Amino acid sequence: MESILERSTGPVGVKKQHKFLIFTSAVAIGFLISSIQFTKYPSIPFYSSLVVYLPFLFAFFTLHFSSITMAAAVSAVVSLSSSKSTAISTRTSLVSQERVSFAKVPYYKNVSSSGKLFSIRAQITTEAEAPAKVEKVSKKQEEGVVTNKYRPKEPYVSRCLLNTKITGDDAPGETWHMVFTTEGEIPYREGQSIGVIPDGIDPKNGKPHKLRLYSIASSALGDFGDSKTVSLCVKRLVYTNDQGEEVKGVCSNFLCDLKPGAEVQITGPVGKEMLMPKDPNATVIMLATGTGIAPFRSFMWKMFFEKHEDYQFNGLAWLFLGVPTSSSLLYKEEFEKMSEMKPDNLRVDFAVSREQTNDKGEKMYIQTRMAQYDKELWELLKKDNTFVYMCGLKGMEKGIDDIMVSLAAEDGIDWMQYKKQLKKEGQWNVEVY
Ligand SMILES: Cc1cc2nc3c(=O)[nH]c(=O)nc-3n(C[C@H](O)[C@H](O)[C@H](O)COP(=O)(O)OP(=O)(O)OC[C@H]3O[C@@H](n4cnc5c(N)ncnc54)[C@H](O)[C@@H]3O)c2cc1C
Ligand SMILES: NC(=O)c1ccc[n+]([C@@H]2O[C@H](COP(=O)([O-])OP(=O)(O)OC[C@H]3O[C@@H](n4cnc5c(N)ncnc54)[C@H](OP(=O)(O)O)[C@@H]3O)[C@@H](O)[C@H]2O)c1
Repeated sequence: MESILERSTGPVGVKKQHKFLIFTSAVAIGFLISSIQFTKYPSIPFYSSLVVYLPFLFAFFTLHFSSITMAAAVSAVVSLSSSKSTAISTRTSLVSQERVSFAKVPYYKNVSSSGKLFSIRAQITTEAEAPAKVEKVSKKQEEGVVTNKYRPKEPYVSRCLLNTKITGDDAPGETWHMVFTTEGEIPYREGQSIGVIPDGIDPKNGKPHKLRLYSIASSALGDFGDSKTVSLCVKRLVYTNDQGEEVKGVCSNFLCDLKPGAEVQITGPVGKEMLMPKDPNATVIMLATGTGIAPFRSFMWKMFFEKHEDYQFNGLAWLFLGVPTSSSLLYKEEFEKMSEMKPDNLRVDFAVSREQTNDKGEKMYIQTRMAQYDKELWELLKKDNTFVYMCGLKGMEKGIDDIMVSLAAEDGIDWMQYKKQLKKEGQWNVEVY
């Protein structure tokens, strides 16, 4: 604020000297006219000299007001281009944006309209205080986030350090946890993804395979704590096509079959949607289906296993994980360990769809499990420092919306509108596929 005011006093100060000169001249000329008229033409009434005197007064007042409008115009231009003022960053974006849009349009129109002097002045008062364009301060850890350091044309060539199956033998499908070297060259954050270019040629076009994205499953420090590795959690895609043939997904099978020591082409890092909240006291609700757990393992390692000078988690982390069978539960032991370490800061709820049902005998999907805590979840969602993250199967998004619609309606709130607001504030974050 100070900087805006300081800058706006410059032009006003210069005009003050002009005004003083004009005012003194007007008084002197008026005095001269009146004296001449009084001594030379005493018969003419004194007030008639005002006919000559008034134009000077008029000139004075016109210049006086135009100097104010000029000063305000300059101050508006300065404040609109300034984005470094400390006052600006402390204002809420909503209020400031309204002010800025008000200032830009009617302000200049009125300046050229000479008959509206007082309305211009009224606006100037508001304008002098109005901050310029306010950049929204993100509630997420966005500062310094790197994206697309490595692109498909020049990928980072990494090496597989470890690759292990983390689902039971009787699980429907296999999921693998794998660790790759980065030597610190891929500066990713919790919640980002990387691209993997599988070896080989796409038989459909004879060109190298395109990259596939994978959510990073390790914290920024990596599984070995030295910021030199990146980990993934990958489900091997195998399905039967319409002709009854078994089809294997190209990249997931390439990754799940990787042996330690093998080279892998990596791109990225990418993505900002799933970055963690800044507030270490936040409530973080994590909704995952299957390998959608990846970014949350990354969050939770940072929250529970690591010590950071600028981040010590002391809020509530609440994980909901949906999987088909108990043999497909991912990273269960790690979460149990975290819970032992900080029982007051972590809640974990599993939804095992092919083994559990709710009271009505319905399949236990993640949204079915969430519905058991509906009131509690809704109360948390009303808090300014609650952040929801959703990752995994696309279908889960609608299921979760359905339970939220009825909960919000009980409070007379339109869920879709409310969700929009939460999204805008970075409190509702979705990455489903
Ligand atoms: C941001 C993001 C993050 C992701 N993170 C992860 C992650 O952490 N872990 C993970 O495992 N995956 C993740 N994925 C998915 C991943 O990118 C790949 O899509 C997945 O591994 C399959 O790739 P693929 O090369 O093995 O299969 P592809 O060879 O690319 O084959 C996939 C194609 O097969 C077809 N197909 C698939 N299933 C069937 C079916 N049942 N019936 C008929 N046709 C079918 C579809 O056309 C589909 O597009 C993520 C995706 C995105 C966008
Ligand atoms: N960032 C991302 O975008 C990202 C990251 C990681 C993974 N993914 C994607 O997420 C998916 C995870 O699949 P997966 O094979 O790893 O999971 P999975 O092991 O098959 O588990 C998925 C679970 O979700 C259930 N489910 C199915 N339909 C659902 C619905 N409409 N609503 C709620 N739950 C539902 C499944 O139940 P049933 O099978 O019993 O019906 C199962 O319990 C993959 O498509 C993967 O590509 C995306």
